[in-house]
Parts: sequence; C-alpha cells; structure tokens
Amino acid sequence: MIRKFGLENDIQYVLLTEEQIQTRVREMGEQISREYAGKNPLLVCVLRGAVPFYADLCRNISDYMEMDFMAVSSYNDGMSSHGMVRFKKDLDTSIENRHVIIVEDIMDSGKTLNHLTRLLGTRNPASLKIACLLDKPSRRECEITPDYCGFVVPNEFVVGYGLDYAGTYRNLPYIGVLKPEVYSDVE
Ligand code: IMP
Ligand code: MG
Repeated sequence: MIRKFGLENDIQYVLLTEEQIQTRVREMGEQISREYAGKNPLLVCVLRGAVPFYADLCRNISDYMEMDFMAVSSYNDGMSSHGMVRFKKDLDTSIENRHVIIVEDIMDSGKTLNHLTRLLGTRNPASLKIACLLDKPSRRECEITPDYCGFVVPNEFVVGYGLDYAGTYRNLPYIGVLKPEVYSDVE
C-alpha cells in the first residue's frame, strides 16, 4: 500500500522505506527480547524524535519491560548542532540496579548520547546500553557507538519516522532526504 501525504512533495528521495524500517525494528526487538530475557529492562525514550521507533521497538519486545521518557534539547530548529545538551525532562523512575536501554532516533555527533549516558551512569544502573535507529558514524565527535543500531546512514540530513526538520516531518512513516529548496533559504 502506498500512502500519500501532502508533505511528501518536500521529499527528494526515500532512504528507508516503511517496510525496511519495520522489518529491522522487529529484528532489533527480537534481539533485545533474547538478550534481556528475565531482566525486566527499562527502555528510556528520548523525546521527541525517538517516539515512533520507541513505540514500534517496544511492541516487538516479547518479555517483561518498562517504559520511561526523557527530553533533551541538542539541536536548534535548523540542521546544525550548537554543541549544548539541555535536559528538559528527567526520568520518573529510579534506575538504580535496573537494566536500562536508552532509545534514540539517531546518533550524529554523539554529543547527546554521550551526555545522557554519563548522566544516567552516575545513577548506578545494573547496565546501560543504547539503541539507535540510525547511526551517522562519519559525523562523530565523541568516542561512542550504539549497542543496537538499525541502519548506518550516509552524511545526509534525513527526516521522517520521528526525525524532524524545524519540528516538521516526524509523522512520515518512512525516512527520506528533503529537497534542498525546502531548507536552502534558512542556512
Ligand atoms: P548528536 O548529539 O549530534 O548525536 O545529535 C543527535 C540529535 O540530533 C538527534 O536526536 C536528532 O534530533 C538530531 N539529528 C541529527 N542528525 C539528524 C538528521 O539527519 N535529521 C534530523 N535530526 C537529526
Ligand atoms: Mg532529536
């Protein structure tokens, strides 16, 4: 089934289809289910970009698990990082002695997840891992890699399936690259 969206006119090409994403997220859920069997992991969703990935990943975990949410801000409304990570919402759950998996949409410079893992690491979790849907290793500025990665992507600015440009495009069911004219007047 091909879904049509008005905002699809802004997409230059599709990098990852809905089907590719769903297949991979199912595999990731199955892997996490096996590796965390009996551990009741706490999956931490990094708002807002991780929401679609988080919801699909959790539904593919077939053992006991719990959910919690954090919000950080690491990007301006545009496309480049200002290098600062600001916490806007902390967890509601204590993670002491818990097996924690941070779930993020994309690892780019790595600054956001570097900061988050350091902070959560001080709270004495039993273990702390990172699941990212996308990884852009060519952009890395910190020594960090995701423990679970959906797809390695090239150095392109992507939108959809949670990823936004200036708050928009998160609701696309696939991941694509914007037409240059959509943002060329901003940068
Ligand atoms: P990092 O701290 O540089 O790793 O950036 C992580 C955050 O930057 C992600 O959570 C995204 O919100 C944002 N980001 C990085 N690359 C992209 C992209 O290609 N599209 C949309 N957002 C991105
Ligand atoms: Mg984000």
